[in-house]
Order: sequence, then structure tokens, then C-alpha cells
Amino acid sequence: MDWDGIWRKWVDSSSYSKWMKKDGPDYWAKRARDYNRHAMNSPWVDEWVSRMAVGKDSTVLDVGAGTGRWSVPLAKKAGSVTAVDPSEAMLECLEENARSAGVDNIRVINSPWEDVDPTALGRFDVVIASHSLTMRNIRDALAKMDGCSSGRVYIFTFASRKNWFHEIWPRLHGEQHRGGPRYLIFLGILQSMGIHPNMEITPFTMDKEFHSFDEAFTYSRRFVGLSDDDGKAEVLRGLVEELQDERGRYRVFDRGHRAAIWWQSEA
Ligand SMILES: C[S@@+](CC[C@H](N)C(=O)[O-])C[C@H]1O[C@@H](n2cnc3c(N)ncnc32)[C@H](O)[C@@H]1O
Repeated sequence: MDWDGIWRKWVDSSSYSKWMKKDGPDYWAKRARDYNRHAMNSPWVDEWVSRMAVGKDSTVLDVGAGTGRWSVPLAKKAGSVTAVDPSEAMLECLEENARSAGVDNIRVINSPWEDVDPTALGRFDVVIASHSLTMRNIRDALAKMDGCSSGRVYIFTFASRKNWFHEIWPRLHGEQHRGGPRYLIFLGILQSMGIHPNMEITPFTMDKEFHSFDEAFTYSRRFVGLSDDDGKAEVLRGLVEELQDERGRYRVFDRGHRAAIWWQSEA
């Protein structure tokens, strides 16, 4: 199977990649604060952090660390955490979160993973990448993660996801939302690299509740990738208005399955 070709096809056609291309480096800059508000404090992350063999002498590498959803709780247990991410805005949130949690053992590297020199990084007891592996050359990205590990490597991604934003997507963009089961491609590529990982699939619910129209509209506009001056904003406005319940709240569903993939590195 040409897993690399399948991966590139997914990268080139997914809705996420299309937004990334449209917004460029601004993509996460526009979304960092919303992401920070809605994704931090995750019981799912806490559970995985408690399952990882991380102690006060451990070193951790977080690839695509974002706002520090993993780096911050891991830094509380580990000796040190290295957080790599190309988005300044996401890393700004990470640094704020680290300060409020009282941790000062996170080293931040503001760079895409592809550009990081692994020899300058060294080896880590735990390497993780959560919802951050979207690079076109995925084989090299995975091989570099494996090469930097002297212990376990973890990948977290969605195995399935359905939410209100995907449902209204065709009304705004004239085509179905394209996500897709990336975890299957990871398995194929890893297997072709001689890595035979463990995997766990668990259901998730990340339904969101907004307390005002503005909050719901702003979040939705970013999620579906409409710019401030997009003519489709009026259509979205109507769709968000329809969400309001009798108590004035705006609630959207967001459900699916998560995939955790992990292996012991032999690099
Ligand atoms: C959905 S967020 C996930 C953040 C965090 N890992 C988490 O689970 O909350 C995706 C992150 O991947 C980062 N990212 C995107 N492309 C990347 C790349 N080439 N190398 C490293 N990180 C990347 C983005 O900047 C963003 O912060």
C-alpha cells in the first residue's frame, strides 16, 4: 500500500488543510484564545498523563504543543518538558498557562517540527504529538519523533468526529466537510517503518455551550473558517440564531472517538 501517497492525498484534500492554506501562519493566531478556553482542563488528558510513566527525572518532548494542554500537566510530573510549535500565539497561551500552574521547567521551541534539528534536541523518555501531525511528509516527522525517543512515543488523534460545525459546513462552503480517519494511515505508515504500535479507541463528547450570541457566533465563524468580511457570515448568523434554547444558551454537539497510538521506541 502507498500509505505516504494516501496520507498526502488526505493532507491536500482535507478541510483543515484548506483552511490552513487560506489563513497561512494566521490560522492558529486567530484561534489560539478560543482553543485555550475550550480545550484546556481535559479529563482525557489528565487520565493519559497519569498513565504515562513520567517521574521527576523524566524528560518529555511535546510536538505541536499548542497552548500546553499536555505540556503543562506533564511539566508538573516531569523533570523537564520541551514544547515545539510554530505558532507564537499558541505558545503565548502555553507560557501563560505554565505561569498560572506555577511550572518553570518547560523549554519552548517556536518552530515547525520539520525544521527542528534532532541532534540539537537530544533524547526524551516520552515523546508525544496530540492532534498536531498534519505535515505533508509524515514519514520523516514520525521517524524524527521515534529517533528522539529513548522510551515511549504517543500519538493522539481523532478516529471519528461529528459536530454541528461539520453539519452546517456544506451550507457555507458548498461541499461536505472532509476530516477522515487519519489514525488508520498512521498505522499503515508505522507498520511500513517496522513499528507495531498499541492502539486504544475511546468515545468522546466535547459539546460546547455559549452564553451569548456573540460568543457562539465568534467561535463558530472561526471554526468554519469564515473571515470577518466573508459574505457567508449572514448565513452563519442565521444558523447560530436557530441554536438558541429557551434559557438563552447556544449549545452545539461535538462527539466521536479518539485514537491513542503508542509504542516503545527501539531507535
Ligand atoms: C489542534 S492544536 C493541538 C495542540 C496540542 N497538542 C493539544 O493537543 O492541545 C495543533 C497544534 O499543532 C501545531 N502545528 C501545526 N503544524 C505543525 C508543525 N509542522 N510542527 C509542529 N507543530 C505544528 C499548531 O501550531 C497547533 O498549535
